[in-house]
Amino acid sequence: MAWITKPSGTMAVEQRSEPYLTEDMKNSIRETYLPRYETSKGALLPTLHKLQHTYGWIPRQALMEAADFLDLKPADVIDTASFYEEFWLKPKGEHVIAVCRSIACEFCDHKAITDRCREKLGIEVGETTDDGKFTLVELECLGACGGAPVALVDEKLHENLSPDEIDRAIDEARSH
Ligand code: FES
Repeated sequence: MAWITKPSGTMAVEQRSEPYLTEDMKNSIRETYLPRYETSKGALLPTLHKLQHTYGWIPRQALMEAADFLDLKPADVIDTASFYEEFWLKPKGEHVIAVCRSIACEFCDHKAITDRCREKLGIEVGETTDDGKFTLVELECLGACGGAPVALVDEKLHENLSPDEIDRAIDEARSH
Protein backbone atom coordinates (compact mmCIF):
# COMPACT_ATOMS: atom_id res chain seq x y z
CA MET A 1 0.00 0.00 0.00
CA ALA A 2 1.36 3.43 -0.89
CA TRP A 3 1.63 6.21 1.67
CA ILE A 4 -0.46 9.21 0.75
CA THR A 5 0.88 12.50 2.06
CA LYS A 6 -1.50 15.29 2.94
CA PRO A 7 -0.68 18.95 3.54
CA SER A 8 -2.07 18.74 7.08
CA GLY A 9 0.31 21.36 8.46
CA THR A 10 -0.91 24.05 6.10
CA MET A 11 -4.47 22.88 5.60
CA ALA A 12 -7.08 25.57 6.25
CA VAL A 13 -9.79 24.46 8.68
CA GLU A 14 -13.27 25.69 7.82
CA GLN A 15 -14.60 27.60 10.80
CA ARG A 16 -18.06 28.55 11.89
CA SER A 17 -18.63 30.96 14.75
CA GLU A 18 -20.83 28.59 16.72
CA PRO A 19 -18.83 25.80 18.41
CA TYR A 20 -19.64 22.17 17.64
CA LEU A 21 -18.65 21.08 21.12
CA THR A 22 -21.28 22.98 23.07
CA GLU A 23 -21.21 23.84 26.76
CA ASP A 24 -23.93 21.22 27.37
CA MET A 25 -21.81 18.56 25.70
CA LYS A 26 -18.74 19.62 27.67
CA ASN A 27 -20.67 19.50 30.94
CA SER A 28 -21.98 16.06 30.17
CA ILE A 29 -18.45 14.84 29.32
CA ARG A 30 -17.09 16.43 32.54
CA GLU A 31 -19.77 14.73 34.62
CA THR A 32 -20.00 11.36 32.92
CA TYR A 33 -16.66 10.51 31.35
CA LEU A 34 -13.77 12.50 32.79
CA PRO A 35 -14.18 11.06 36.31
CA ARG A 36 -13.80 7.53 34.90
CA TYR A 37 -10.29 8.03 33.55
CA GLU A 38 -6.92 8.88 35.01
CA THR A 39 -6.19 11.32 32.19
CA SER A 40 -8.41 13.32 29.89
CA LYS A 41 -7.22 11.21 26.97
CA GLY A 42 -9.58 8.47 28.18
CA ALA A 43 -12.55 10.69 27.39
CA LEU A 44 -11.50 11.23 23.79
CA LEU A 45 -13.48 8.36 22.24
CA PRO A 46 -16.69 9.22 24.13
CA THR A 47 -16.23 12.85 23.03
CA LEU A 48 -15.84 11.81 19.39
CA HIS A 49 -18.90 9.55 19.66
CA LYS A 50 -20.91 12.41 21.11
CA LEU A 51 -19.89 14.73 18.28
CA GLN A 52 -20.70 12.14 15.63
CA HIS A 53 -24.06 11.25 17.16
CA THR A 54 -24.97 14.92 17.30
CA TYR A 55 -23.88 15.98 13.81
CA GLY A 56 -23.69 12.71 11.85
CA TRP A 57 -20.00 13.39 11.18
CA ILE A 58 -17.05 15.15 12.85
CA PRO A 59 -15.87 18.36 11.21
CA ARG A 60 -12.23 19.44 11.58
CA GLN A 61 -13.27 22.36 13.73
CA ALA A 62 -14.94 19.93 16.13
CA LEU A 63 -11.73 17.88 16.33
CA MET A 64 -9.80 21.02 17.22
CA GLU A 65 -12.40 21.91 19.85
CA ALA A 66 -12.15 18.40 21.33
CA ALA A 67 -8.36 18.73 21.47
CA ASP A 68 -8.65 22.06 23.21
CA PHE A 69 -11.26 20.85 25.67
CA LEU A 70 -9.37 17.68 26.61
CA ASP A 71 -5.98 19.40 26.55
CA LEU A 72 -4.64 17.06 23.87
CA LYS A 73 -2.58 17.70 20.78
CA PRO A 74 -4.82 18.21 17.70
CA ALA A 75 -2.62 15.68 15.87
CA ASP A 76 -3.44 13.00 18.48
CA VAL A 77 -7.15 13.70 18.17
CA ILE A 78 -7.02 13.56 14.36
CA ASP A 79 -4.93 10.36 14.49
CA THR A 80 -7.51 8.71 16.74
CA ALA A 81 -10.52 9.86 14.76
CA SER A 82 -9.00 8.84 11.43
CA PHE A 83 -7.92 5.42 12.75
CA TYR A 84 -11.50 4.20 13.16
CA GLU A 85 -13.60 3.75 10.01
CA GLU A 86 -16.69 4.30 12.12
CA PHE A 87 -15.90 7.99 12.54
CA TRP A 88 -16.96 10.12 9.60
CA LEU A 89 -14.60 12.99 8.92
CA LYS A 90 -16.61 14.28 6.00
CA PRO A 91 -20.36 14.65 5.61
CA LYS A 92 -22.19 11.52 4.57
CA GLY A 93 -25.33 11.08 2.52
CA GLU A 94 -28.82 10.70 3.90
CA HIS A 95 -28.49 6.94 3.30
CA VAL A 96 -25.31 4.89 3.68
CA ILE A 97 -24.77 1.70 1.70
CA ALA A 98 -22.00 -0.34 3.33
CA VAL A 99 -20.91 -3.46 1.47
CA CYS A 100 -18.81 -5.99 3.39
CA ARG A 101 -15.49 -6.67 1.68
CA SER A 102 -13.99 -9.18 4.11
CA ILE A 103 -13.08 -12.71 3.20
CA ALA A 104 -16.40 -14.60 3.31
CA CYS A 105 -18.13 -11.88 1.33
CA GLU A 106 -15.17 -11.59 -1.01
CA PHE A 107 -15.49 -15.32 -1.78
CA CYS A 108 -19.21 -14.81 -2.42
CA ASP A 109 -18.56 -12.05 -4.95
CA HIS A 110 -19.09 -8.90 -2.91
CA LYS A 111 -17.61 -7.10 -5.91
CA ALA A 112 -20.79 -7.72 -7.93
CA ILE A 113 -22.76 -6.03 -5.14
CA THR A 114 -20.43 -3.05 -4.96
CA ASP A 115 -20.36 -2.77 -8.74
CA ARG A 116 -24.15 -2.68 -8.95
CA CYS A 117 -24.18 0.11 -6.33
CA ARG A 118 -21.49 2.04 -8.20
CA GLU A 119 -23.39 1.75 -11.48
CA LYS A 120 -26.78 2.54 -10.01
CA LEU A 121 -25.63 5.52 -7.95
CA GLY A 122 -22.97 6.79 -10.35
CA ILE A 123 -20.36 7.10 -7.60
CA GLU A 124 -17.24 5.29 -6.48
CA VAL A 125 -16.68 3.69 -3.08
CA GLY A 126 -16.15 6.45 -0.52
CA GLU A 127 -18.20 8.99 -2.47
CA THR A 128 -21.59 10.63 -1.96
CA THR A 129 -24.11 11.33 -4.71
CA ASP A 130 -24.45 14.96 -5.79
CA ASP A 131 -27.95 15.17 -4.33
CA GLY A 132 -26.57 14.08 -0.93
CA LYS A 133 -28.88 11.06 -0.85
CA PHE A 134 -26.41 8.15 -0.83
CA THR A 135 -22.91 7.40 0.35
CA LEU A 136 -21.26 4.15 -0.73
CA VAL A 137 -18.60 2.51 1.43
CA GLU A 138 -17.05 -0.90 1.87
CA LEU A 139 -16.45 -2.17 5.39
CA GLU A 140 -14.65 -5.05 7.02
CA CYS A 141 -16.57 -8.08 8.37
CA LEU A 142 -20.06 -7.16 9.55
CA GLY A 143 -20.25 -10.34 11.65
CA ALA A 144 -22.79 -12.03 9.39
CA CYS A 145 -20.44 -14.22 7.35
CA GLY A 146 -23.00 -17.05 7.17
CA GLY A 147 -25.19 -14.79 5.04
CA ALA A 148 -22.44 -13.60 2.69
CA PRO A 149 -22.47 -11.49 0.65
CA VAL A 150 -23.96 -8.89 2.98
CA ALA A 151 -24.47 -5.16 3.05
CA LEU A 152 -25.94 -2.63 5.41
CA VAL A 153 -28.40 -0.15 4.01
CA ASP A 154 -28.53 2.38 6.80
CA GLU A 155 -29.21 0.26 9.90
CA LYS A 156 -30.69 -2.72 8.07
CA LEU A 157 -28.58 -5.79 7.31
CA HIS A 158 -29.23 -7.50 3.97
CA GLU A 159 -27.90 -11.06 3.63
CA ASN A 160 -27.37 -13.49 0.74
CA LEU A 161 -27.53 -10.53 -1.57
CA SER A 162 -27.72 -10.56 -5.32
CA PRO A 163 -27.07 -7.44 -7.40
CA ASP A 164 -30.81 -7.15 -8.11
CA GLU A 165 -31.59 -7.31 -4.39
CA ILE A 166 -29.21 -4.49 -3.49
CA ASP A 167 -30.72 -2.55 -6.39
CA ARG A 168 -34.17 -2.97 -4.83
CA ALA A 169 -32.86 -2.11 -1.36
CA ILE A 170 -31.49 1.16 -2.73
CA ASP A 171 -34.84 1.97 -4.37
CA GLU A 172 -36.58 1.25 -1.09
CA ALA A 173 -34.21 3.55 0.84
CA ARG A 174 -34.72 6.27 -1.77
CA SER A 175 -38.48 6.12 -1.29
CA HIS A 176 -38.20 6.96 2.44
S1 FES B 1 -16.97 -11.45 5.81
FE1 FES B 1 -18.74 -10.35 5.29
S2 FES B 1 -19.94 -10.52 7.06
FE2 FES B 1 -18.11 -11.51 7.61
